[in-house]
Amino acid sequence: MKTFVVFCMKLVLLLVHISGNDHLVNAAATSHNTSSYNTEQEALLALKTHITYDPYNSLASNWSSTTPVCSWIVVSCDPILHRVTYLNLSDMGLQGTIPPHIASLSFLAVIDLSDNSFHGSLPSELASLRLLKRINLVRNNFTGAIPNILSNMSSLQYVSLFGNKFTGSLPDDFFENLPNLQDLVLANNLLVGQIP
Ligand SMILES: *[C@@H]1O[C@H](CO)[C@@H](O)[C@H](O)[C@H]1NC(C)=O
Ligand SMILES: *[C@@H]1O[C@H](CO)[C@@H](O)[C@H](O)[C@H]1NC(C)=O
Ligand SMILES: *[C@@H]1O[C@H](CO)[C@@H](O)[C@H](O)[C@H]1NC(C)=O
Ligand SMILES: *[C@@H]1O[C@H](CO)[C@@H](O)[C@H](O)[C@H]1NC(C)=O
Ligand SMILES: *[C@@H]1O[C@H](CO)[C@@H](O)[C@H](O)[C@H]1NC(C)=O
Repeated sequence: MKTFVVFCMKLVLLLVHISGNDHLVNAAATSHNTSSYNTEQEALLALKTHITYDPYNSLASNWSSTTPVCSWIVVSCDPILHRVTYLNLSDMGLQGTIPPHIASLSFLAVIDLSDNSFHGSLPSELASLRLLKRINLVRNNFTGAIPNILSNMSSLQYVSLFGNKFTGSLPDDFFENLPNLQDLVLANNLLVGQIP
């Protein structure tokens, strides 16, 4: 019996050893939903590939497919669900665009991209981020009309688009689905029309 127990323990150790791949061990240890886990990693790696200039190499070596996303710099996860809830790329000198893949971060509550040189428009897919509470895009070069994307994010509390090149006007029903909105900063853009 004792020999058998020792044999089993050795077997377990051997299995742990041969699965020494970070990803597998991590997935097993935390009983992730592996499918969402991979999707979130893909979403952030897609963002990384859409960043065309990273002057301090902040993401180049620190966002690696061999380490779990929840351990990456400027990313935080829900401690129980291991889903990305926080992304803060503030003031990293980054240039690039935001890919639609970000919409897969369905637990995202906070996104801060302030003080970079992101450009292009926000993908319409972002409208599905229903848990987003804070969006800070201050001082970038975003263009296009954003308001219709925001108007369905019913958890929103704080939105600052200050200092971009957003165009267009706020639709009349903009505030109808935003019961929690406390701060909306739109100054220094190219918006026209009236606040509904
Ligand atoms: C895992 O996540 C995917 C995508 O979010 C979902 O379709 C699937 O049902 C989830 N599986 C489990 C077991 O929760
Ligand atoms: C990212 O990694 C590089 C090199 O591995 C390191 O020098 C740098 O400090 C890291 N960046 C951050 C923001 O931690
Ligand atoms: C993002 O990080 C910067 C410092 O790098 C900090 O000042 C700012 O408060 C953070 N934003 C959020 C929403 O936590
Ligand atoms: C925005 O783009 C212009 C050129 O089109 C550039 O001069 C400016 O520095 C950029 N601003 C930011 C915050 O990236
Ligand atoms: C907002 O949600 C409504 C109802 O779910 C949907 O019909 C509409 O297309 C959505 N708008 C956007 C911009 O996603």
